[in-house]
Amino acid sequence: MNIFQDSCCSILGFLLVFFLQGSCTNPDVEVHKAVGDLLDLIADYPKEDLEVQWTYNNEIHIAEYDNNKIKKLKSQFYKRLEMNEDNISIKVKDLKLQDSGIFSIVAKTNSVQYPTKLIQLHVHDLIRDVQIESSNSWLPSKNICMFHLQCQASGDPNPSYSWSGDLVKTGPNLNINLRLAESATLNCTANNTVSVKHTTKTVVCRGKNEYSRFCVKM
Ligand SMILES: *[C@@H]1O[C@H](CO)[C@@H](O)[C@H](O)[C@H]1NC(C)=O
Ligand SMILES: *[C@@H]1O[C@H](CO)[C@@H](O)[C@H](O)[C@H]1NC(C)=O
Ligand SMILES: *[C@@H]1O[C@H](CO)[C@@H](O)[C@H](O)[C@H]1NC(C)=O
Repeated sequence: MNIFQDSCCSILGFLLVFFLQGSCTNPDVEVHKAVGDLLDLIADYPKEDLEVQWTYNNEIHIAEYDNNKIKKLKSQFYKRLEMNEDNISIKVKDLKLQDSGIFSIVAKTNSVQYPTKLIQLHVHDLIRDVQIESSNSWLPSKNICMFHLQCQASGDPNPSYSWSGDLVKTGPNLNINLRLAESATLNCTANNTVSVKHTTKTVVCRGKNEYSRFCVKM
């Protein structure tokens, strides 16, 4: 019986969370920030009689404003919260990846219930570095070098990559064939919504001697 009740409750809990999240899938604003940035959440309403609640993911109360005072509440943001009573705003400082989620601002007075403001926050890593790795093989039958280039960024695990220079392409990989003594200069750019980095590499086809260990045996 107990087992039945437990699973019943967890199903109800699941549905509740599901509906609460479902009701939040239409944020008023989506905000993209880098790790370490800050998020400013302002309750831009006339001050008279105003009561405000700042909430995270629909269930964690972060702060509230009442009687001209902002009070911090126990949450994972407690130590990183800065409050300003003049413009009725709170600042979440030193943003972390796991802060990504939905913040809401609920405000009312004795006579007015303002529409809830939903702010969807996405926190991203900055792209720290970008490098081009290259490998190649010499094809004696055609007198060409076949280069395989791979662009690798660190920081964000999922950036967008694009190539410019002697060849234009999107994606992290690039293949290029060069004739003996030909060269190509290629520029790889990695970006996400909060940062961009690029690097350049020149490759030269030197024939079989220099690259004998990659030689295609014929
Ligand atoms: C509110 O005021 C504080 C202090 O002047 C300022 O740092 C903050 O950016 C303001 N917030 C907004 C959203 O204007
Ligand atoms: C590489 O691409 C970036 C971004 O498009 C550009 O700012 C930079 O000047 C390019 N560098 C070279 C050497 O072409
Ligand atoms: C990189 O920049 C392009 C163009 O601004 C944008 O469409 C793309 O979404 C960005 N990539 C990521 C991972 O945000």
